[in-house]
Amino acid sequence: MNWINVLPLRNIASDDFIRTVQVSGRKLCIVKVGKEYYAVQNKCPHAGADLSNGWCESGKLVCPYHRHEFDLKTGRGAAGQGNYIDTYPVELREDGLYIGISEPWWKFW
Ligand code: FES
Repeated sequence: MNWINVLPLRNIASDDFIRTVQVSGRKLCIVKVGKEYYAVQNKCPHAGADLSNGWCESGKLVCPYHRHEFDLKTGRGAAGQGNYIDTYPVELREDGLYIGISEPWWKFW
């Protein structure tokens, strides 16, 4: 697995946030809720909305277009949606927030 620093420590707010980061041309959505960080795909699988414009409710990321909900830990869509989002492991280190990418480089980049 390759670990990539996507947010230097100085850019991490103490408040909760939802924002996008670019990793080699791909947009990922980073979510901070309390002391937990999550990294998920940024494009909604339903109709392509930008999930970073959504909001969090009870551990789920809610899409701003049609309100599909996705579990931040597993990526599973709510019952009846029949969809999911990719999730990525995260680690908060001394110098920033890292995302683990296990896909072969030719798929991710
Ligand atoms: S585009 Fe996200 S729920 Fe429709």
